[in-house]
Amino acid sequence: MADTIFPALIAHCKEYGYIFPSSEIYDGLAAVYDYGQNGAQLKKNIRDLWWTSMTQLHQNIVGIDAAIFMHPTTWKASGHVDSFSDPMIDNRDSNKRYRVDHLIEGFAEMQSEKGNAQLANELIASMEKLLAADDFNGLKNLIEENGIKCAVSNTANWTDIRQFNLMFSTQLGSVAEDADTIYLRPETAQGIFVNFLNVQKTGRMKIPFGIAQTGKAFRNEIVARQFIFRMREFEQMEMQFFIRPGTQMEWYEYWKDKRLEWHRELGIPAEKLRFHNHTKLAHYADAAVDIEFEFPFGWKELEGIHSRTDYDLSRHQEFSKKKLQYFDNEINQNYIPYVVETSVGLDRLVLTILSLAYTEEKWKKEDGSDDSRVVLRIPAKIAPYKLAILPLVKKDGLPEIAKEIMAGCKSSFHCFYEEKDSIGKRYRRMDAIGTPFCVTIDHQTKEDDTVTIRYRDNMQQERINKNEIVKIVSQKLG
Ligand code: GAP
Repeated sequence: MADTIFPALIAHCKEYGYIFPSSEIYDGLAAVYDYGQNGAQLKKNIRDLWWTSMTQLHQNIVGIDAAIFMHPTTWKASGHVDSFSDPMIDNRDSNKRYRVDHLIEGFAEMQSEKGNAQLANELIASMEKLLAADDFNGLKNLIEENGIKCAVSNTANWTDIRQFNLMFSTQLGSVAEDADTIYLRPETAQGIFVNFLNVQKTGRMKIPFGIAQTGKAFRNEIVARQFIFRMREFEQMEMQFFIRPGTQMEWYEYWKDKRLEWHRELGIPAEKLRFHNHTKLAHYADAAVDIEFEFPFGWKELEGIHSRTDYDLSRHQEFSKKKLQYFDNEINQNYIPYVVETSVGLDRLVLTILSLAYTEEKWKKEDGSDDSRVVLRIPAKIAPYKLAILPLVKKDGLPEIAKEIMAGCKSSFHCFYEEKDSIGKRYRRMDAIGTPFCVTIDHQTKEDDTVTIRYRDNMQQERINKNEIVKIVSQKLG
């Protein structure tokens, strides 16, 4: 099922203006994608909901927009220069490089599909143990003992395992010297840490408080695959919550629950979400959990919640030689705050919503013939267009009435106007884009001011007064 649905979803995203391969006229660029007119709007709607839920709905959380380029010492201090790397292995025959965990996971998935679930589970468990111990020889043995082969050369002629840094670097200014090397940020979080005191002082923030940010991050992912799930340029929505040392487990549990609840409110069914505790902690964390979603290709990370201790602020204090402390007048103490972070990939959320929404439907019509449609059941509150306004025919004064309705609705929500093609074809196009409501202006509208409103999900229609469109659609959008 996943084998056919996922490629169909990718093709659908391209055909209906959601997601295109980047610079496609030059055959694209691996693991880089562009959002089209509908994808950009869907992404913005999700980003806006996150921003509102973090900043507007929490009096003690404010948002910032830090630059992508940062002083290079930032990444020394954060540990990314030394530790932001993945164990990789190369196949000597194909020269193809693999992330070790992806290679083993891919093999385990194949075993599971063949009915060897026990072997698959044992493999994953052994891999996690060896990864946690940084035991590269053990990992190589695991690959060789299980006869894991390269998908391209079909051989097991492997190199030793090495670490590979994921940061992209570039030069600032015109002289290519080491001192000018800067990095494209691999996470947005560091822009928050270096601004901790600026925000705390100018916003007169009292602990506990949070700083939120959305923006692009860049990682030189070696195995970039599964469409927009793992990209080299992607967008994160991160929030660092600054707290009193010793309270981190309480806040960690709080944000775990809050974030899971947020995903459910977005419209993701509870049974498609689960927590997955990290066995190997990142260099900055004392506890970490992923919120995983069941993508068409299996359970994968959607969001990370990390208790980052005072690691980042302490390191920035050490490297910058500037005090990054907070005076807590409730307990009369100066300290470097601890941090609980929530970090979700916006592109992964877009993929989550699209993979839940994409539905192929077939049914028998009353006359016994077959009918079908592809519909994107995107939750109405985040759908790119909320309402399509469709005159039944392109004459008899119907477009004029439709345009008047458009003028009356467009300041309330995003509307789509279309008069070309049969009404049936236009409904199908709106289903494929995911527009939750369509109103059709027909000859009866001229007599009694009513229009039909059609609901995307059940294709039911009813007549309503044209003056009630804004009220009814707004109510349905909640
Ligand atoms: N500041 C913490 C941090 O960056 P992470 O687990 O590496 O943690 C957080 O990343 C989230 O960013 C992930 O849960 C995922 O949703 C998203 N993400 C990470 N790498 C990605 C990639 N290559 N493509 C798309 N999204 C990615």
